[in-house]
Amino acid sequence: MEFRDELKTLKDQVKFGEFFKVDSFSNIVIAGMGGSGIAGRIFSEMYSDKPVFVSDDYSIPNFVDENTEFIAVSYSGNTEETLSAVEAAMKKGAKVHAITSGGKLGEMGIDTIKIPSGLQPRSAVGYLTMPIINTFIKPSPDDVDEASRILADLDANNTVQENIATEIFAGRRIPVIYGASPFRSIAYRWKTQFNENAKVLAYSSYFSELNHNDTMPLRDTYRKDEFYFMAFDSEDERIRKRIEVTQKITGTQFKKIDVRGTSLFARSFYLIHVGDYITYHLARLRGIDPQDVSAIEDLKKRIA
Ligand code: F6R
Repeated sequence: MEFRDELKTLKDQVKFGEFFKVDSFSNIVIAGMGGSGIAGRIFSEMYSDKPVFVSDDYSIPNFVDENTEFIAVSYSGNTEETLSAVEAAMKKGAKVHAITSGGKLGEMGIDTIKIPSGLQPRSAVGYLTMPIINTFIKPSPDDVDEASRILADLDANNTVQENIATEIFAGRRIPVIYGASPFRSIAYRWKTQFNENAKVLAYSSYFSELNHNDTMPLRDTYRKDEFYFMAFDSEDERIRKRIEVTQKITGTQFKKIDVRGTSLFARSFYLIHVGDYITYHLARLRGIDPQDVSAIEDLKKRIA
């Protein structure tokens, strides 16, 4: 499947209705790396009823026990760190679940939701995230419909995103993405999409934290014209004020990224998809295959 066609599957992925049966629990741990790990990060900003720990490591936190809902997310099912985390969680007696298209994780005999194979993991963000959201948040059918509709709109018209990619490409600039709660993890998702799709280094951070560090180099760094600054618009007036004042006192212009949708669910997936299209177009302008992750695969083989 062409990468652009992979992107177009997101509007259907958000309708993926699978969920885990869970009973009482005291915390949630979600383990995964890269394009799979982002599922836990996105979920953790939508849910705050119980503690959520997002693990991107071989090891798991000490607090994991039989009251932990432990969800391993790996598209391939063969990611070394995630498999190691699953073994550790099983030893601790946690309630272990998996979301995968197959691989070793799919054969471990744990409670598993199988998702379709044949996509890049990062293009399966809906399949990877929905089972977690369905289990713990249960979005309304209206929210799902809204998300699917605005994702389809973006598939049909992504000229705004193409123009941003054109500006980045024209100056061969390094993307800097600034988010704010509840989209901090989506700023990071964009960074990783720039990395894997367009093969450019990128940097992400978020308000208001960046007002306590980045704000100095935003005013005083060298090579400032080599960066392309973007900031997600926010519904929070306090954050909007910070964005304005930061631009003013540092003499920096941020490209404002609008967020469509009413529910947090729809807004989150919309913003994810905006990043998908900017990074896809940048890859295209560079003449680069957005699907190519050969260096990552090579590294995995060499350390196996
Ligand atoms: C994203 C991508 C990588 C993988 C990561 C983990 O499209 O290719 O970031 O997601 O290497 O692999 P999986 O997702 O198979 O656990």
